[in-house]
Amino acid sequence: MRKPVVLITGAGGEIGHGLIAHLARAGTQPVITLDVNPLEPALARMVQREFTGSITDKSLLERVLSEFEVETVYHLAALLSTRSEFTPTTAHQVNVDGTLNLLEFSQREAESHGRPVTFMYPSSIAAYGLPDLETKRRVGPVKEDDYNTPSTMYGCNKLYCEQLGRYYARFYKQLAAQPQSGRVDFRCVRFPGLISALTVPSGGTSDYAPEMIHAAAKGEPYACFVRPDTRIPFMAMPDGVEALLALSAAPKAALTRTAYNLAAFNPSAGEIRQEVVRAFPDADISWHTDTKRQGIVDSWPEDVDDSAARRDWGFAPRFDFVKAFRDYLIPTIGSRYAK
Ligand code: SER
Repeated sequence: MRKPVVLITGAGGEIGHGLIAHLARAGTQPVITLDVNPLEPALARMVQREFTGSITDKSLLERVLSEFEVETVYHLAALLSTRSEFTPTTAHQVNVDGTLNLLEFSQREAESHGRPVTFMYPSSIAAYGLPDLETKRRVGPVKEDDYNTPSTMYGCNKLYCEQLGRYYARFYKQLAAQPQSGRVDFRCVRFPGLISALTVPSGGTSDYAPEMIHAAAKGEPYACFVRPDTRIPFMAMPDGVEALLALSAAPKAALTRTAYNLAAFNPSAGEIRQEVVRAFPDADISWHTDTKRQGIVDSWPEDVDDSAARRDWGFAPRFDFVKAFRDYLIPTIGSRYAK
């Protein structure tokens, strides 16, 4: 007999860390993982089965299908925005072809065990593209369907995969004799920049905030690659994990969309520096603008309108900017570097 499980792709990444710990603690369903790299031993101990390989490997997905009844997928594997600009075709293979593989995998799982598969997908503020700084400042919080003109490969990939997911959920093979859609219950959040106390991101463009904080905690100097006035939305990682869990548990009838904005706080880079220096008075943080990466961050909104998430499934982040530092980052990050 195949066993009912939750599948997490990209499980060794930043979101995976928090999510695995949470699901393991809850203990409601065993977790299996798929990641290109082996999991850290502490994470590996919390999962029932670890597959090491790529989401582009269809035969590996076949193996998972043959052994497990996957009821929920958290599809976290992706190449982030900065990295994707250096290797756009690889980004497309991983971010788009990989997601298509997972959607098709989920459709087949649902067909074989007879229940819908909940497909959780983290999209991003990178799905937006504001034409210039003047517009960005003028429009303030953007709604999901506005400014969907991303300027990065990663943003294009995320926006398209949001649409692919919506297609699988609502229109899949709409001309077939028997209805086939709805077997993949696709649910997506557009994350702001995520800040974790436990891990540092790699290959993103919102990385200046977590990098600044972690450098200060380690006592290392940091040159921030965006201007002090740069403003985009951020969120503390525990709220990001909670949001995924809350949306996955929401009654389907309550959901009016397949992709939801999430907002928590949106400090400027200068305000982040101030808060870091308050916590680590010896922090050595300077400014060294990388105009190209700055251009990417300038195309992302300074705030997002998350009223649909709040209304439909009760999204309510616990951490604002001050609380994120006071109650999460500072108490947790110290132990990360304590020797
Ligand atoms: N954190 C991501 C990045 O910088 C945005 O979703 O690429």
